[in-house]
Amino acid sequence: MRWKLATAFASLIGLSTAQLARYVAPSDSSVSFSLNIPSSTASSGSGAIFFQVRGPASGKQWIALGIGSRMAGAHIFVVYADGSGNVTVSARAGQGHFEPEFTSDATITVLDGSGIVGGSLIANVRCDNCLSLAELSVTNTRSSWIWADKDGSALDSSDVEANIQQHDRTGVFTFDLTAAAGGDSVNPFVESVQSSTSAAATGTGTRTSSGGSAPTSTGGNGNGDGNQNVGSGSSDGSTSEASSMSKMLKIHGILMGLAFAVFFPLGSVIIRLMPGPHKVDAHMAVQFIGFGLSIAGLAYGVMLAQDLRYLKETHAIIGMVVMGGLFFQPIVGLIHHWLFKAKGRRTILAYIHTYWGRGLIILGIINGGLGLQLADNTTGGTIAYSVVAGVLGLAWLAASALYYIRGGSKAVLNAKLEKPLSADGLRE
Ligand code: HEM
Ligand code: HEM
Ligand SMILES: *[C@@H]1O[C@H](CO)[C@@H](O)[C@H](O)[C@H]1NC(C)=O
Repeated sequence: MRWKLATAFASLIGLSTAQLARYVAPSDSSVSFSLNIPSSTASSGSGAIFFQVRGPASGKQWIALGIGSRMAGAHIFVVYADGSGNVTVSARAGQGHFEPEFTSDATITVLDGSGIVGGSLIANVRCDNCLSLAELSVTNTRSSWIWADKDGSALDSSDVEANIQQHDRTGVFTFDLTAAAGGDSVNPFVESVQSSTSAAATGTGTRTSSGGSAPTSTGGNGNGDGNQNVGSGSSDGSTSEASSMSKMLKIHGILMGLAFAVFFPLGSVIIRLMPGPHKVDAHMAVQFIGFGLSIAGLAYGVMLAQDLRYLKETHAIIGMVVMGGLFFQPIVGLIHHWLFKAKGRRTILAYIHTYWGRGLIILGIINGGLGLQLADNTTGGTIAYSVVAGVLGLAWLAASALYYIRGGSKAVLNAKLEKPLSADGLRE
């Protein structure tokens, strides 16, 4: 007991004990990830780092930690039971929203204290080249990491290339790398295993949140295992459940795809090709549906981008510019239509509405492609989007071309001068 108090005290004032930055999964406080950057690495900016992946041994197929802000490009370490009381740590390269592939790029060593220990699945890992591999700067106070886990029976495989099933939960969080720096242990987790146990015994555990939409700050779980960095992702709002996240992604993509690749081009074809007196009404109706879909899609886009890093992505920036510009489109369209009815001729608003509208729709269609790229959508999804956008885009181009070949507005106006006005007023 005296020894424990001594180590707790030492770590509180940051003496010889290694500093651990720790992140607890907001949806499951038994899953946690810790990081230590030994003093020598911290001062030279290169060298080994240590991390720990920890969770319940039963009911988990695998638990993973990754360096990066999303799957694509992340350096991922998947931990699962090896079937003989220890763990397998499988280094994988994330490429998109699908199973990451094994890679031998990372030089990792599984350390003492790893295994199925007291009902916990623990992997204590030293990575000799993670800093350079992931281009991590030891002074970064907001380094992005991802985590994920999968419920189910233990994988029990010592094969580092074992097939794993898609995660049930994922999240993005930040580690303050400066808060993880300190100590010169060859295994900083051996002590923390003990102090964590003591904390559990004294009942100062972490707060649990089951909803998991907002990351829970789990401050004050002071179990003396070093400098706690728990919940540093809280200001990010970036940890979300995988299921709701991928559902939101799908809904956003579908709503935006329908609006920009289907309804807006269709409405544009209608105003040029539809015979009869109702083409303006039909155009208005179709564009308003597209407008509504895109507003709803925008809401989902903003929710997806609540992880503020995303708002700086080209896709989100172009998307917000397009949606901002779109705001004026129905207003200008309506005013143009009223003026046309009143004056019997086009005003400058017709050209503004037409060219502004065309520009926005084309930008939006391109932006959908950027979104698919950003989300690493499957080739199938990308092909489907391209085909739909391509077909309607071509139909639109053909419709506009035909309209101008036929003489455009002049022909329409000439026709109007020859014929008496139809019941609902002028036709455009
Ligand atoms: C967000 C909603 C809307 C979008 C995206 C949109 C888009 C467009 C586009 C792209 C064109 C040109 C078609 C081409 O390429 O040849 C056009 C034409 C037109 N739009 Fe809209 N529109 C919208 C709403 C409206 C509304 C509410 C009205 C009201 C009546 C309207 C009335 C017209 C008219 C009259 C034209 C023909 C202009 C002319 O050539 O004289 N639009 N619209
Ligand atoms: C012209 C408007 C937009 C279109 C056509 C569009 C379309 C798309 C599409 C097709 C996807 C891929 C969905 C999937 O793979 O299932 C996507 C993803 C995404 N979009 Fe948009 N979007 C637009 C505007 C926005 C805006 C305004 C924001 C943010 C404010 C936004 C944020 C996102 C985010 C964060 C993703 C997911 C990226 C990832 O998972 O890595 N989008 N978008
Ligand atoms: C698991 O393997 C590591 C590395 O070989 C070893 O240090 C550790 O003691 C093992 N754990 C158990 C519980 O056997």
